Amino acid sequence: MSKKLEGKVALVSGSGRGIGREIALKLAGEGARVVINDLDAEPAKKTVADIVAAGGQAVACAGSVTEAGFAERFVGTALESYGGLDIVVNNAGYTWDNVVQKMTDDQWEAMLAVHLTAPFRILRAASSFIREMAKKEADEGREVFRKVVNISSTSGVYGNAGQANYAAAKAGINGLTKAMAKEWGRYKVNVNSVAFGLIRTRLTEADASAGASIDIEGQKIRVGVNPQILKNAEAMIPLGRGGMPEEAAGAVYLFCIPESNYVSGQVLVCGGGRP
Ligand SMILES: NC(=O)c1ccc[n+]([C@@H]2O[C@H](COP(=O)([O-])OP(=O)(O)OC[C@H]3O[C@@H](n4cnc5c(N)ncnc54)[C@H](O)[C@@H]3O)[C@@H](O)[C@H]2O)c1
Repeated sequence: MSKKLEGKVALVSGSGRGIGREIALKLAGEGARVVINDLDAEPAKKTVADIVAAGGQAVACAGSVTEAGFAERFVGTALESYGGLDIVVNNAGYTWDNVVQKMTDDQWEAMLAVHLTAPFRILRAASSFIREMAKKEADEGREVFRKVVNISSTSGVYGNAGQANYAAAKAGINGLTKAMAKEWGRYKVNVNSVAFGLIRTRLTEADASAGASIDIEGQKIRVGVNPQILKNAEAMIPLGRGGMPEEAAGAVYLFCIPESNYVSGQVLVCGGGRP
């Protein structure tokens, strides 16, 4: 049986760990050639090695999505390595929580930079190639669908206390999704968002009460959830538990396959039935 994404080329930001890694493995398993990005070079290399070991194709493009010039380098890696670009998944990110009265400008700006400005720049960098190809394909009488999947959060859809910065950025990405769906419809690009609820990764698994933190460009950032709060949150989920990264990747995959070619500008909540 032929694979669903045979011949496609995908960019997945933040695919060294967690949900992004599972998205990259899933797309590669379905035949896509994938450009792996992560802030941290080692996990990015590991995702590439695992894809190659499984018989797939992948290349790393390490670095922060917020760096000047990163977007052009990311898109350039796909074009130089594989000669095309069909799928863009804007996934890289983290949380940096605080109540509004304690939130610094740096905290606010960091969330907008990674979750909103970086995806905008990546799509802008991809636009010349996408427009050129779409015009060529239209002249040949062909419809070739390309896919953008932006990663949002239920925080961005419904809000969440302690996450004014993150919620604003994740709501912003849904606005970007809807605008780009209208702007790029003429180029046959489906642009959708997936808003995750509670997914079990290092952002949510660690014990916040024990002072868990991650390192983002030399800065220690507190992450995780207090175990009692996590238990209460899981009790509110109709499916009874947090999602696994593989299940989160499954929701993104739905927007990457030909069966979703007539779906665009949508925000899909992947949250175990919790609205
Ligand atoms: N885990 C959840 O419950 C949850 C819920 C809603 C949304 N999300 C979103 O899903 C996405 C993935 O999160 P995750 O839970 O898999 O986290 P994770 O920490 O397991 O993985 C995220 C990866 O992104 C990388 N990254 C962070 N900042 C980066 C940057 N500036 N440039 C390049 N790479 C960077 C990290 O190094 C990490 O490897 C994020 O956008 C997050 O906000 C997660």
